[in-house]
Amino acid sequence: MMITLDQRTALEQAARKRITDSHALEGDADRLTHFYQGWASSYDLDVGRDGYCGPMIVAELAGAAQTAYLAGRRNAIAILDAGCGTGLVGVELDRLGFRLIDGFDVSEEMAGKARQTGVYRHVRGDVNLNRRLSDYSSASYDLTVCCGVLTLGHVRPDGLRELARVTRPNGFVIASTRKSYAETTSFEDEVRRLQDEGVLIPAQCLSNGRYVAEEDAHYWVFQVPEKVSIPAEERL
Ligand SMILES: C[S@@+](CC[C@H](N)C(=O)[O-])C[C@H]1O[C@@H](n2cnc3c(N)ncnc32)[C@H](O)[C@@H]1O
Repeated sequence: MMITLDQRTALEQAARKRITDSHALEGDADRLTHFYQGWASSYDLDVGRDGYCGPMIVAELAGAAQTAYLAGRRNAIAILDAGCGTGLVGVELDRLGFRLIDGFDVSEEMAGKARQTGVYRHVRGDVNLNRRLSDYSSASYDLTVCCGVLTLGHVRPDGLRELARVTRPNGFVIASTRKSYAETTSFEDEVRRLQDEGVLIPAQCLSNGRYVAEEDAHYWVFQVPEKVSIPAEERL
């Protein structure tokens, strides 16, 4: 069915409104879950209409980090996709030859969509990155990716600490931050704090890269240092 220019503009505006509305959820797990439950079926179309290219950039940075620094074949690299949503990042990672991809999301509805893509080894719903990721052991992934999740109203900057914890020494955490998130939260302070504590090292940053039509993002590549401090409760 052909759609008119007016209809297309209306659809683009509706998509943009959904995206903006998602930024007002204040990191509240119940509100996020409810909001994404209602968005899961049209999310891919909406973000596509808004020119969302974060998943491709994050996946390509993961590919570059793997080729440049990680030994072993790409299909044996274990990746965690934090806040996987409907699986857009997983699909891009699969396209690049990654095969051991796990994902989680606070929304069971979104996690269900990710499972349907068939590219994930395992996807968990009802997992909140604003809390400790108690289902995930320390140092269990070579790469952890997080796209569109360290964003307004979703996950606080200290979520980065958990992403680093589940990533093995010398592995990488790759994350996008919308420009307005980086500017209005303490994200960069958190990065400095984690660096001072020896939890992660900022290795690269693509500043002001394309993200969605109305706003750019920064794309971060962090490396987990060789000697990581293991949380007290996990020490033998
Ligand atoms: C904008 S979507 C991004 C999804 C996917 N990564 C992508 O790039 O398409 C944000 C996702 O983060 C999830 N999310 C929001 N807050 C979360 C939290 N505290 N813990 C885990 N997932 C969360 C949402 O349910 C949603 O699926």
